[in-house]
Amino acid sequence: MLQVRVKPGIEDRVRGFFPWIYRPEIASFSRKPKKGELVVVRDFAGKFLGYGYINPEVSIAIRILSFDKNEKVSPELIKKRIKEAYEYRKRLYINSNAYRLVHSEGDLLPGLIVDVYGEYAVIEFTTYGMNQFREAVIEALLETIKPKGIYEKANLTASKVEGIGTEEGVVYGEVPEEVVIWEHDLKFYINIPEGQKTGFFLDQRNSRKFVRSLVEPGDRCLDVFCHTGGFALNMKKMGAKEVIAVDISDLALEMGKKNEELNGLSGIEWVEANAFDFLRKLDKAKEEFDLIVIDPPSFAKNKHSVPNALRGYKELCVRGLKLVKPGGYLAIFSCSFHITQEHLLQVLREASYDVRRQVRVIATTFQDKDHPWILQMPNTLYLKGVWVEVM
Ligand SMILES: C[S@@+](CC[C@H](N)C(=O)[O-])C[C@H]1O[C@@H](n2cnc3c(N)ncnc32)[C@H](O)[C@@H]1O
Repeated sequence: MLQVRVKPGIEDRVRGFFPWIYRPEIASFSRKPKKGELVVVRDFAGKFLGYGYINPEVSIAIRILSFDKNEKVSPELIKKRIKEAYEYRKRLYINSNAYRLVHSEGDLLPGLIVDVYGEYAVIEFTTYGMNQFREAVIEALLETIKPKGIYEKANLTASKVEGIGTEEGVVYGEVPEEVVIWEHDLKFYINIPEGQKTGFFLDQRNSRKFVRSLVEPGDRCLDVFCHTGGFALNMKKMGAKEVIAVDISDLALEMGKKNEELNGLSGIEWVEANAFDFLRKLDKAKEEFDLIVIDPPSFAKNKHSVPNALRGYKELCVRGLKLVKPGGYLAIFSCSFHITQEHLLQVLREASYDVRRQVRVIATTFQDKDHPWILQMPNTLYLKGVWVEVM
């Protein structure tokens, strides 16, 4: 197997279970590396650090799959990890038949995402190295969850960086265009081939449940960046009198309307608009709400875009705070790896100052527990939400 030595000083971080080695941190190879091949990682003195796979063409050149000398990497190990990931999910008692089965580094399977929607699974390879194990992944899924169909989605950004194909499609059995899943006591249509991400924002399950505790019958609520109505439906289900749900995607809104009907609910106002423009319009009209949830897409794709992203979050907070009635609630989320919870709190502080509205934090929420994050990689806690009461 290809042997790689890292530069002096890198070994402690790897021994501390940080699973990435960046290209400039590599001191030497035992021979010319091939993209996707397995490697033994050693410290500068030659002591074992871990087994992983390599892509010498990208910045995160090596991802460690095992820190245990006795645990050699093979298709069998990948299958074992998927089975362990499944056992872990079973212990979580997730109140839904849709969940993330494999969360990349969080399940010691860097480069692999597997989401389950009832009887169907969606797989996504985000690294060349993990893509080498595709047969083992599919076999493991057939052995554990026994899906009727498996669909492969391409993560376009990662595929481009890593140089893997961008084709999407059914890789096993049959996958219908629409699948109905349930979460708590609501049902949702999922369009696996056309939908965003793998079809649904599974990571917000706990926050979609939490929002219920804030709704009083008769409330006026606003779900900004609503996608297929995740928060809006929960608000309506809890007796909100008026719910406005806004998103830029007509496909998401169509699904939202169908979801409303599917759940025997009615009266949600679905608005196709740019959320920034729509919030400005509501502000101008001096509209007021008891509860507003703002759940935008990632604004910071890399660390260089953080300042711009913060401006975006701040604008959303300013608009949101102005629109909340005294005693009402606002939730703001960021799903950007590069935005920390402290960033979000700071943006809220500045917005609170600017609009002269005092706020108190009532809760913070994160990606749900089927999306575990790595202690040594704080940015794997990518989804953060802050819930405030606006005084
Ligand atoms: C993180 S998702 C929201 C998930 C949703 N809260 C849920 O629980 O399913 C972000 C949504 O923002 C929408 N979006 C992106 N840019 C937008 C914009 N400028 N204005 C309105 N919606 C936008 C996307 O279509 C996507 O549905």
